[in-house]
Amino acid sequence: MALEIENLTKRFGKFPAVNNVSLTVEQGEFMALLGPSGSGKTTLLRSIGGLDLPEEGTLRFDGQDITHQPARERRVGFVFQAYALFRHMTVARNIAFGLDVKPWSSRPSRREIRARVDALLARMQLDGLGDRYPSQLSGGQRQRVALARALAIEPRILLLDEPFGALDAKVRKDLRQWLRALHDETKLTTIMVTHDQDEALALADRVAVMNRGKIEQVGTPADLRSTPATPFVKDFLAS
Ligand SMILES: Nc1ncnc2c1ncn2[C@@H]1O[C@H](COP(=O)(O)OP(=O)(O)OP(=O)(O)O)[C@@H](O)[C@H]1O
Ligand SMILES: [Mg+2]
Repeated sequence: MALEIENLTKRFGKFPAVNNVSLTVEQGEFMALLGPSGSGKTTLLRSIGGLDLPEEGTLRFDGQDITHQPARERRVGFVFQAYALFRHMTVARNIAFGLDVKPWSSRPSRREIRARVDALLARMQLDGLGDRYPSQLSGGQRQRVALARALAIEPRILLLDEPFGALDAKVRKDLRQWLRALHDETKLTTIMVTHDQDEALALADRVAVMNRGKIEQVGTPADLRSTPATPFVKDFLAS
Protein backbone atom coordinates (compact mmCIF):
# COMPACT_ATOMS: atom_id res chain seq x y z
CA MET A 1 0.00 0.00 0.00
CA ALA A 2 1.21 3.49 -0.81
CA LEU A 3 0.01 5.69 2.02
CA GLU A 4 -0.88 4.85 5.60
CA ILE A 5 -2.39 7.49 7.84
CA GLU A 6 -2.58 6.43 11.46
CA ASN A 7 -4.42 8.29 14.22
CA LEU A 8 -3.65 11.67 12.73
CA THR A 9 -4.70 14.80 14.65
CA LYS A 10 -4.12 18.39 13.50
CA ARG A 11 -5.30 21.18 15.80
CA PHE A 12 -5.62 24.92 15.29
CA GLY A 13 -5.39 26.17 18.87
CA LYS A 14 -7.54 23.70 20.75
CA PHE A 15 -9.77 22.92 17.78
CA PRO A 16 -9.06 19.56 16.13
CA ALA A 17 -9.56 20.23 12.40
CA VAL A 18 -8.48 16.63 11.76
CA ASN A 19 -9.40 14.40 14.66
CA ASN A 20 -7.73 11.00 15.05
CA VAL A 21 -8.04 10.01 11.41
CA SER A 22 -6.77 6.70 10.03
CA LEU A 23 -6.86 5.88 6.33
CA THR A 24 -4.99 3.67 3.91
CA VAL A 25 -4.57 4.48 0.23
CA GLU A 26 -3.40 1.71 -2.07
CA GLN A 27 -0.71 2.07 -4.71
CA GLY A 28 -2.36 3.40 -7.87
CA GLU A 29 -5.66 4.11 -6.17
CA PHE A 30 -7.83 7.16 -6.79
CA MET A 31 -9.25 8.24 -3.42
CA ALA A 32 -11.69 11.11 -2.90
CA LEU A 33 -12.10 13.01 0.35
CA LEU A 34 -15.72 14.11 0.39
CA GLY A 35 -17.43 16.24 3.00
CA PRO A 36 -19.08 19.56 3.78
CA SER A 37 -17.25 22.85 4.19
CA GLY A 38 -15.10 22.89 7.32
CA SER A 39 -15.02 19.10 7.72
CA GLY A 40 -11.21 19.01 7.55
CA LYS A 41 -10.59 17.85 3.97
CA THR A 42 -8.02 20.49 3.09
CA THR A 43 -6.28 20.15 6.44
CA LEU A 44 -5.95 16.40 5.97
CA LEU A 45 -4.60 16.87 2.44
CA ARG A 46 -2.12 19.53 3.57
CA SER A 47 -0.97 17.26 6.38
CA ILE A 48 -0.31 14.45 3.89
CA GLY A 49 1.70 16.87 1.74
CA GLY A 50 3.66 18.26 4.69
CA LEU A 51 2.19 21.77 4.47
CA ASP A 52 0.46 21.35 7.84
CA LEU A 53 2.26 19.55 10.65
CA PRO A 54 0.00 17.30 12.70
CA GLU A 55 0.39 17.14 16.48
CA GLU A 56 -0.32 13.44 16.70
CA GLY A 57 -0.24 10.38 14.51
CA THR A 58 1.92 8.80 11.85
CA LEU A 59 2.18 9.07 8.08
CA ARG A 60 3.89 6.33 6.11
CA PHE A 61 4.64 6.20 2.42
CA ASP A 62 5.66 2.83 0.96
CA GLY A 63 6.37 1.76 4.53
CA GLN A 64 8.67 4.71 5.23
CA ASP A 65 7.76 7.07 8.08
CA ILE A 66 7.37 10.54 6.54
CA THR A 67 5.61 12.21 9.49
CA HIS A 68 8.48 14.63 10.04
CA GLN A 69 9.82 14.77 6.51
CA PRO A 70 9.83 18.29 5.01
CA ALA A 71 7.25 18.92 2.26
CA ARG A 72 9.83 19.39 -0.49
CA GLU A 73 11.32 15.96 0.16
CA ARG A 74 8.01 14.14 -0.06
CA ARG A 75 7.75 14.26 -3.87
CA VAL A 76 4.14 15.28 -3.77
CA GLY A 77 2.29 16.87 -6.69
CA PHE A 78 -0.18 19.51 -5.50
CA VAL A 79 -3.02 21.12 -7.43
CA PHE A 80 -5.19 23.73 -5.73
CA GLN A 81 -8.54 25.19 -6.61
CA ALA A 82 -7.49 28.30 -8.49
CA TYR A 83 -4.98 31.09 -9.00
CA ALA A 84 -2.14 28.72 -8.33
CA LEU A 85 -0.18 29.56 -11.47
CA PHE A 86 2.58 32.15 -11.50
CA ARG A 87 1.13 35.00 -13.54
CA HIS A 88 4.44 36.46 -14.63
CA MET A 89 5.73 33.16 -16.02
CA THR A 90 4.80 31.50 -19.31
CA VAL A 91 2.96 28.21 -19.33
CA ALA A 92 6.20 26.37 -20.09
CA ARG A 93 8.05 28.06 -17.19
CA ASN A 94 5.15 27.33 -14.88
CA ILE A 95 5.31 23.64 -15.75
CA ALA A 96 9.10 23.57 -15.36
CA PHE A 97 9.03 25.45 -12.05
CA GLY A 98 9.40 22.45 -9.73
CA LEU A 99 12.40 21.29 -11.76
CA ASP A 100 13.99 24.73 -12.15
CA VAL A 101 14.09 25.24 -8.37
CA LYS A 102 15.77 21.91 -7.64
CA PRO A 103 19.28 22.12 -6.26
CA TRP A 104 21.89 21.94 -8.99
CA SER A 105 22.95 18.41 -8.04
CA SER A 106 19.52 16.88 -8.65
CA ARG A 107 18.23 19.21 -11.37
CA PRO A 108 17.76 17.69 -14.83
CA SER A 109 19.62 19.39 -17.69
CA ARG A 110 17.94 22.23 -19.56
CA ARG A 111 17.38 19.94 -22.48
CA GLU A 112 15.77 17.30 -20.32
CA ILE A 113 13.54 19.88 -18.66
CA ARG A 114 12.48 21.17 -22.04
CA ALA A 115 11.71 17.65 -23.27
CA ARG A 116 9.69 16.92 -20.16
CA VAL A 117 7.71 20.15 -20.50
CA ASP A 118 6.97 19.40 -24.16
CA ALA A 119 5.80 15.89 -23.31
CA LEU A 120 3.51 17.26 -20.59
CA LEU A 121 2.10 19.94 -22.89
CA ALA A 122 1.21 17.20 -25.36
CA ARG A 123 -0.28 14.92 -22.74
CA MET A 124 -2.38 17.75 -21.32
CA GLN A 125 -3.57 18.72 -24.80
CA LEU A 126 -1.86 22.08 -24.46
CA ASP A 127 0.33 21.80 -27.56
CA GLY A 128 1.51 25.17 -28.81
CA LEU A 129 0.50 27.04 -25.65
CA GLY A 130 3.86 26.91 -23.87
CA ASP A 131 4.74 30.53 -24.60
CA ARG A 132 1.45 32.00 -23.43
CA TYR A 133 0.85 33.52 -20.01
CA PRO A 134 -1.83 32.13 -17.66
CA SER A 135 -4.07 35.16 -18.30
CA GLN A 136 -4.24 34.11 -21.95
CA LEU A 137 -5.76 30.69 -21.17
CA SER A 138 -9.24 29.43 -20.40
CA GLY A 139 -10.02 28.22 -16.90
CA GLY A 140 -9.88 24.58 -17.95
CA GLN A 141 -6.54 25.09 -19.70
CA ARG A 142 -5.14 26.78 -16.60
CA GLN A 143 -6.08 23.84 -14.41
CA ARG A 144 -4.42 21.48 -16.89
CA VAL A 145 -1.25 23.59 -16.66
CA ALA A 146 -1.47 23.32 -12.87
CA LEU A 147 -1.76 19.55 -13.27
CA ALA A 148 1.20 19.46 -15.67
CA ARG A 149 3.27 21.44 -13.18
CA ALA A 150 2.38 18.98 -10.41
CA LEU A 151 3.32 16.02 -12.63
CA ALA A 152 6.61 17.53 -13.85
CA ILE A 153 8.46 16.58 -10.69
CA GLU A 154 7.37 12.94 -11.16
CA PRO A 155 5.55 12.83 -7.84
CA ARG A 156 4.96 9.67 -5.84
CA ILE A 157 1.47 10.88 -5.02
CA LEU A 158 -0.88 13.46 -6.50
CA LEU A 159 -2.94 15.64 -4.14
CA LEU A 160 -5.80 17.65 -5.64
CA ASP A 161 -7.82 20.17 -3.63
CA GLU A 162 -11.07 21.03 -5.44
CA PRO A 163 -9.11 21.22 -8.70
CA PHE A 164 -12.19 22.06 -10.77
CA GLY A 165 -13.92 24.20 -8.17
CA ALA A 166 -13.69 27.45 -10.09
CA LEU A 167 -14.92 26.07 -13.41
CA ASP A 168 -18.37 25.95 -14.92
CA ALA A 169 -20.34 22.69 -14.91
CA LYS A 170 -19.64 21.65 -18.50
CA VAL A 171 -15.87 22.20 -18.36
CA ARG A 172 -15.84 20.53 -14.97
CA LYS A 173 -17.46 17.38 -16.33
CA ASP A 174 -15.07 17.21 -19.29
CA LEU A 175 -12.04 17.63 -17.06
CA ARG A 176 -13.37 15.03 -14.69
CA GLN A 177 -13.39 12.36 -17.41
CA TRP A 178 -10.11 13.56 -18.67
CA LEU A 179 -8.52 13.31 -15.20
CA ARG A 180 -9.82 9.77 -14.76
CA ALA A 181 -8.34 8.79 -18.14
CA LEU A 182 -5.01 10.34 -17.16
CA HIS A 183 -5.08 8.42 -13.90
CA ASP A 184 -5.85 5.12 -15.64
CA GLU A 185 -2.88 5.76 -17.90
CA THR A 186 -0.35 6.86 -15.26
CA LYS A 187 -1.63 4.80 -12.30
CA LEU A 188 -0.38 7.54 -10.03
CA THR A 189 -1.75 7.28 -6.49
CA THR A 190 -4.17 10.19 -6.24
CA ILE A 191 -6.15 11.86 -3.46
CA MET A 192 -8.73 14.45 -4.48
CA VAL A 193 -10.68 16.72 -2.14
CA THR A 194 -14.17 17.69 -3.18
CA HIS A 195 -17.47 18.67 -1.61
CA ASP A 196 -19.26 17.58 -4.79
CA GLN A 197 -20.60 14.07 -4.25
CA ASP A 198 -21.29 13.49 -7.97
CA GLU A 199 -17.68 14.26 -8.72
CA ALA A 200 -16.39 11.99 -5.95
CA LEU A 201 -18.65 9.10 -6.83
CA ALA A 202 -18.00 9.40 -10.57
CA LEU A 203 -14.22 9.62 -10.33
CA ALA A 204 -12.85 7.77 -7.36
CA ASP A 205 -12.10 4.11 -6.72
CA ARG A 206 -12.97 4.76 -3.08
CA VAL A 207 -14.42 7.70 -1.23
CA ALA A 208 -13.70 8.77 2.38
CA VAL A 209 -16.61 10.78 3.74
CA MET A 210 -15.51 13.39 6.29
CA ASN A 211 -17.52 15.17 8.95
CA ARG A 212 -16.21 17.41 11.74
CA GLY A 213 -12.60 16.31 11.39
CA LYS A 214 -13.36 12.60 11.29
CA ILE A 215 -13.86 10.00 8.58
CA GLU A 216 -17.37 8.60 8.84
CA GLN A 217 -17.00 5.94 6.16
CA VAL A 218 -14.57 4.73 3.51
CA GLY A 219 -15.86 2.68 0.63
CA THR A 220 -16.39 2.29 -3.07
CA PRO A 221 -19.07 4.49 -4.63
CA ALA A 222 -21.30 1.39 -4.79
CA ASP A 223 -20.72 0.65 -1.06
CA LEU A 224 -21.61 4.18 -0.06
CA ARG A 225 -24.77 4.21 -2.11
CA SER A 226 -26.00 0.80 -1.01
CA THR A 227 -24.91 0.78 2.64
CA PRO A 228 -24.20 4.19 4.16
CA ALA A 229 -22.59 3.52 7.55
CA THR A 230 -24.02 6.48 9.45
CA PRO A 231 -27.03 8.80 9.24
CA PHE A 232 -24.64 11.60 8.27
CA VAL A 233 -23.36 9.70 5.23
CA LYS A 234 -26.87 8.78 4.24
CA ASP A 235 -28.08 12.39 4.49
CA PHE A 236 -25.02 13.82 2.79
CA LEU A 237 -25.34 11.50 -0.19
CA ALA A 238 -29.07 12.12 -0.42
CA SER A 239 -28.71 15.89 -0.44
N1 LIG B 1 -4.98 28.04 9.47
C1 LIG B 1 -6.08 27.81 10.21
N2 LIG B 1 -6.25 28.39 11.41
C2 LIG B 1 -7.34 28.15 12.17
N3 LIG B 1 -8.32 27.33 11.82
C3 LIG B 1 -8.23 26.71 10.64
C4 LIG B 1 -7.11 26.91 9.77
N4 LIG B 1 -7.29 26.16 8.67
C5 LIG B 1 -8.47 25.54 8.82
N5 LIG B 1 -9.03 25.86 10.00
C6 LIG B 1 -10.31 25.33 10.50
O1 LIG B 1 -10.28 23.92 10.46
C7 LIG B 1 -11.51 23.40 10.03
C8 LIG B 1 -11.31 22.54 8.80
O2 LIG B 1 -10.89 23.37 7.73
P1 LIG B 1 -10.56 22.79 6.29
O3 LIG B 1 -10.03 23.91 5.48
O4 LIG B 1 -9.70 21.59 6.44
O5 LIG B 1 -12.02 22.36 5.80
P2 LIG B 1 -12.51 21.84 4.38
O6 LIG B 1 -13.22 20.55 4.62
O7 LIG B 1 -11.39 21.84 3.42
O8 LIG B 1 -13.60 22.95 3.98
P3 LIG B 1 -13.95 23.61 2.54
O9 LIG B 1 -14.81 22.61 1.82
O10 LIG B 1 -14.71 24.84 2.91
O11 LIG B 1 -12.67 23.92 1.84
C9 LIG B 1 -12.43 24.60 9.80
O12 LIG B 1 -13.25 24.77 10.92
C10 LIG B 1 -11.46 25.75 9.63
O13 LIG B 1 -12.04 26.96 10.07
MG1 LIG C 1 -10.97 22.95 1.69
